[in-house]
Amino acid sequence: MDLPFEPYRIKVVEKIQRVSREERVKHLRAAGYNLFKIPAEAIYVDLLTDSGTGAMSDLQWAALMSGDEAYACSKSFAEFESTIKDIYGYKHVIPTHQGRAAEGMLFTVTLKPGDVVPNNIHFDTTRANVEHIGAIALDCIGAEGLDPATEGPFKGNMSLDNLRAAFDKYGTPRIPFVMLTITNNSGGGQPVSMANMKAVSAFCREVGVPLILDACRFAENAWFIQQREEGYADKEIKDICREMFALAQGCTMSAKKDGLVNIGGFLCLDDDAWAQDVTNLLILREGFPTYGGLAGRDLAAIAQGLREVLDPDYLAYRIGQVARLGRRLDELGVPYLRPTGGHAVYLDARKALPHIPQSQFPAQVFTAALYLEGGVRGVEIGSLMFEHKDPDTGEMVSPAMELVRLAIPRRVYTHTQLDYVAESCARVMEIGERLRGLKITWEPPALRHFTASLEPVGGGKMIAKA
Ligand code: F0G
Repeated sequence: MDLPFEPYRIKVVEKIQRVSREERVKHLRAAGYNLFKIPAEAIYVDLLTDSGTGAMSDLQWAALMSGDEAYACSKSFAEFESTIKDIYGYKHVIPTHQGRAAEGMLFTVTLKPGDVVPNNIHFDTTRANVEHIGAIALDCIGAEGLDPATEGPFKGNMSLDNLRAAFDKYGTPRIPFVMLTITNNSGGGQPVSMANMKAVSAFCREVGVPLILDACRFAENAWFIQQREEGYADKEIKDICREMFALAQGCTMSAKKDGLVNIGGFLCLDDDAWAQDVTNLLILREGFPTYGGLAGRDLAAIAQGLREVLDPDYLAYRIGQVARLGRRLDELGVPYLRPTGGHAVYLDARKALPHIPQSQFPAQVFTAALYLEGGVRGVEIGSLMFEHKDPDTGEMVSPAMELVRLAIPRRVYTHTQLDYVAESCARVMEIGERLRGLKITWEPPALRHFTASLEPVGGGKMIAKA
């Protein structure tokens, strides 16, 4: 019989504070309707991100105690490096303090202004790091991956036609490498199939350009391949991971996701020259090559986390919990991007709030209302995050989807707490017609969603009187 419950016992607990609705109203106004600026203790169920928010295991806490803090060539680095080589199979392992540091350094040594990086969909920090250099971040997802309503096993797949068109348009010399994000976070946490990875990899070989995986949620992607792709049902998760990684020449990794830790990341590369250039920069920016911005104990906890994340009981429970939240939302009539992803459910705000135009941030409105109604924090993945200037026309382009991501931290919340989240979403749907749009009152020049301030269009309250 399958394990019928959580594959762990709870050893340490953290109290959730009660916060009245009046206090939530005050917090939301003070935060300029931006959930990133709400104090965490004023939140009941925090689904802002699955990044660095997971619970570590007893063995990971033990690894923290036994971590080796030697400045150079520590025992913990040796364990970190050998564990990663065993799973990922790349020649060079470069530790960084988190994923974006790995991206930033790789892009600094490989890209120049005017270059182009195709990806299925760039995550926001990845896009920002590409654009920071003056290069173009090009999304090559297929049409299916942009349609929230269609069901599909591998909606993270890259369109080979779009990829080919990118090479035809910009030419190979302007494209130093191709990226593939597994799972595709900005497109609903949807997996990429092994067949698609093979096709992208073969195309890259044909044009002589390396393929780099954005591998933050690699184990979740492997689990979907095992469950959904023909020929993989009997393969071990680790073997599927090795097969995925063998199709690329390196990867960027945020260990805050499938490394099951609160901080950390790394970059893996096969290419000696790129690895040397990155290492030179690493010493300037992050630290000596055997700790790269982390403590020895962090490296030890990552090595243990990477071993645990491959456990099929863990993955079945983890992804099953996300799917279960989706089923509760179905019962309550709350629309979301189909199917549920590996780490999150993405509510479809356009469908939920059809009267609010994209220019008034419907997904941000839903996010704010969800906090007011239930003390639940999600994150907007819509116009506030992704509206951008078209590199060719210079015009502002809205993203295809307006989503509210409810990202589930790993091993943190119970089914009961997620049932409460579903019910809070249903309450927002009930008052949906009374919700008003938002407008920006202040924004920074880049990555505005983190710090921008907003207010209800026309002033006054966000929820109109019944
Ligand atoms: N790539 C992907 C696909 C990501 O989801 C993230 C982070 C990064 C790169 C950057 O990693 O945070 O360690 O610097 N995603 C988090 C999220 C922040 O909420 O989805 P990082």
